[in-house]
This record gives sequence, C-alpha cells and structure tokens, in this order.
Amino acid sequence: MPNASASNASATQASRTSASRDIATSIHPYTNLKLHETEGPLVITGGDGVFVRDEDGNTYLEALAGLWCASLGFSERRLAEAAYRQMLKLPYYHTFAHKAHDVGIELAEKLLSIAPVPMAKIFFVNSGSEANDTVVKLIWYYNNALGRPQKKKIISRTKAYHGVTVASASLTGLPNNHRDFDLPIAGVLHVDCPHWYRFAQPGESEEEFSSRMAGSLEQRILSEGPDTVAAMIGEPIMGAGGVILPPATYWEKVQAVLKKYDVLLIADEVICGFGRTGNMWGSMTYGLQPDIVSCAKALSAGYLPIAAVMVSSGIYDVLARQSEKIGVFAHGFTYSGHPVTSAVALETLKIYEDTNLLAHVREVAPRMQAGLRRFQDHPIVGETRGVGLIGAIELVANKKTRTPFDPKAGVGAFLSKRAHHHRVIIRPLGDTIAFCPPLIIKDNEIDLMFERFAAALNDTYDMVRERGLAQ
Ligand SMILES: Cc1ncc(COP(=O)(O)O)c(C=O)c1O
Repeated sequence: MPNASASNASATQASRTSASRDIATSIHPYTNLKLHETEGPLVITGGDGVFVRDEDGNTYLEALAGLWCASLGFSERRLAEAAYRQMLKLPYYHTFAHKAHDVGIELAEKLLSIAPVPMAKIFFVNSGSEANDTVVKLIWYYNNALGRPQKKKIISRTKAYHGVTVASASLTGLPNNHRDFDLPIAGVLHVDCPHWYRFAQPGESEEEFSSRMAGSLEQRILSEGPDTVAAMIGEPIMGAGGVILPPATYWEKVQAVLKKYDVLLIADEVICGFGRTGNMWGSMTYGLQPDIVSCAKALSAGYLPIAAVMVSSGIYDVLARQSEKIGVFAHGFTYSGHPVTSAVALETLKIYEDTNLLAHVREVAPRMQAGLRRFQDHPIVGETRGVGLIGAIELVANKKTRTPFDPKAGVGAFLSKRAHHHRVIIRPLGDTIAFCPPLIIKDNEIDLMFERFAAALNDTYDMVRERGLAQ
C-alpha cells in the first residue's frame, strides 16, 4: 500500500514548476544566490543548430555558444552517436598505471598533429580549471626536478580568466574570484591588463602601449628576481575578462621579455582553441610560441567535459626523469582521458575537418566583425572589438571620455535581460557584452543575432536616458 504522505509528496512534486524545484535544490555557479530565490532560472530544454529552446517553447539564438564552447551548435547527431557507440564498446576505463585505450591514443595523436607548435605529450583532464591547475603543478614539479626550487612564481594578468579551482582561480585576475575565497595563493603575480582602449595613455599608439606593458612586465620580473619566476600564463585573447584583444606587437614584446629571463609561456587556449579566431589556435593568430598549452571547450564542442594540457619535449623529458627518480608521477583524475569523452572529442575534430569548419569561420567572420562595428556609433557604445567569431561591445556612460557606467546601475545585466526578451542569449561581463556564437553560425543567423541585440540595446538606451545614467 502506498504510504499516503509519500504519494502526497510526489503529487506535490509533479505540480510544482521546474523553476520552484530548481530554487529549492540548486546552488548555481556565477549567480547571485539570494536573487535566484526570487528570480528563478531560465529552464532550457532543447536545442537546434545555433538556437536553444526554453520550457515554454521560446527559442533563443545562443550568441555565446553556451559558455564559449558549443562550437557545433546544439543538435550535432554525429557526437551523440559517437558517445553511444563508445558507451557500448568501452564505457569506462582509466589511464592510471600504464593503462590505455584505443580512442584515447587516437585523440592524443590527433591533438599532437594539430598543436600550434611542436608538442611532445598530452595530459587529459576534464575542464579548463583542471587543465590550468595541472599546469601549475607541472611547472613546480619541473623546477624542483631542475634543482631550482625557488623558481616557482607564475605571472598572470589582471582580468585574466583561467578557471575556479584553487590554483586556477588564483591565476584568474578578477576580484570576485578571489574575494572571500581566501585567494590568490602565494606565488601568483598579476601584471597589467593589456586593454589599449581602457588603459592607454592619451596619444599612446597600440605599439607604444605594448612596449609599456612589456616594460612593466620586465620590471616586475626584475623586482621579484628572475630566478624566482617560473612562467607566465595568458589567453591569446582574454575572454571572460571582457574579450580583450592583444594590442599590436604585444605578444611579440612580451615573449622577448620571457625568453630573456628563462620564463616559460603557457597559452591558455580554452576559448581561442579550435578555430575561434579563424585559425586553429589563438597562438597562431597572434604569434605565440608556448611551452605549454591548455585547451578545453571546443575540443568536444562542449558536448562532454574534456580538456587537455600539451607540453613541449623539453618539459616532458624533465618530468619523465623526475618521475623515474620518485617512482611515480602522482597526478591524475579518475576521468583523465575518459573513453566516451575522448570519442566525442575525436569525432568533434573529425567534424571540423570533414566540414572544413575553419574555412567556414573565415568566410562568415567578416560579417560578424562588420556587424559588431556597426554599433560603434551608438550613443552608449564605447568600443566594439573582435576577430574571427569572437567579439565584444563595451558600453560607456560617456563616449568621449570613455567613462564607464556606475557598476551598481547594472546596465549590462539590464541589457542581458532585454536580450532574453528579444530571444538572443548574450553574456554581460560587467558592461561589456561578449559574442562568441557557435562556429557553425551562418550569415543570416549573424544578422538575426545583431538585429535582436540591437533591439535590446535600444531598450537599454531608453532606460539609461530615463534614469539619467549617461553623462
Ligand atoms: C580561458 C579560460 N581558461 C580556463 C577556463 C576554465 O574552464 P572550466 O570552466 O572548464 O573549468 C575558462 C572558462 O571559461 C576559460 O575561458
């Protein structure tokens, strides 16, 4: 006999909306938790190409590919089928203690064959954060192996985004990722954010600004002591910090400084990797010659969690010797190189090749970039910027002086809400709006994305005028 109170509970459960059940149960990442209790979620139930659908049947153009990752959109059957086939064949196995599986081997070979610079080996993990945490540990291990235990500091940049685990959140250069989390850990240094529009001095050209950035990097290395600085990590384009493109000659000048003081370069390709900038890697677009690369997101088109760290032969040889000395390289995750995620990643890379997705990105990128630039004259737009299929629009209270809005006014958040209303999902990074649509997006969908965004921007402008927020 069913217990009366249990059947009452399930009846109540069925009648409750998914929003109220979510509010009752979940802590959401990157959410104002208290506000969520009254706002509730937007519940997404399905997807088709560059569109996603909510539980009420509304469709939205996903202008950020979810979280910069759904490169093949939301309905690629080949990936679902690859996962299913692998599930039937070998649903799980690990790669600890000399174990391997064919799909993991094939994926490692494939990744090495497309690496931005010659790389020796791959270490698989499950997220961008795990990749960057792994990188930090590898660098410490490497310098201990080389008998220079003091050379451990890692340079990152203000506004960088490298993840949220303890070491990767420390590398991240955004205040909210540190505040009250007791971060950053010791040994992480943040140098200047190379955003020319925001931080250049009056009359300073991009090249001059880059020289100043490289100069202050050099000063920082010298003041810390070059024998204490191990590496610098950088996204070729800074993503979550505001889609900040490197100014002309920046990477060239930074790399010259790093070379001079024997400081390794880590390219965080988590967003830029796999075609986003119109080349396979952001490192190719901006001339980076990294010693270590971390990648994730579009590696599996976001369909399953997988990420990877690639290391040069110089680094690998040292790690191998040290593990021989200790007896084990004691690092790894239960799901490092999971067969199903590996199969989906491998199929993703095959789809990129079969459909010549890079050529497609290069074909549609001019329309995307022209679309962004069209907002340059809007009264509350300060800067439009981008390359390939990534870009941003930065809102300002005063175009001439580049004065931002008061962050408390929540202008970016308001715009994001209006964008939902007009059926486009964009990401406000403060008052900078990021665009990073699926790489499969077509010309007419790019037009639709900006048409819907324009309506939201105009609503925002009306609000700004009504509340007297512009200067
Ligand atoms: C450049 C970069 N690195 C690392 C990460 C962290 O990746 P994950 O969220 O998979 O841990 C992100 C996530 O957005 C990223 O953009």
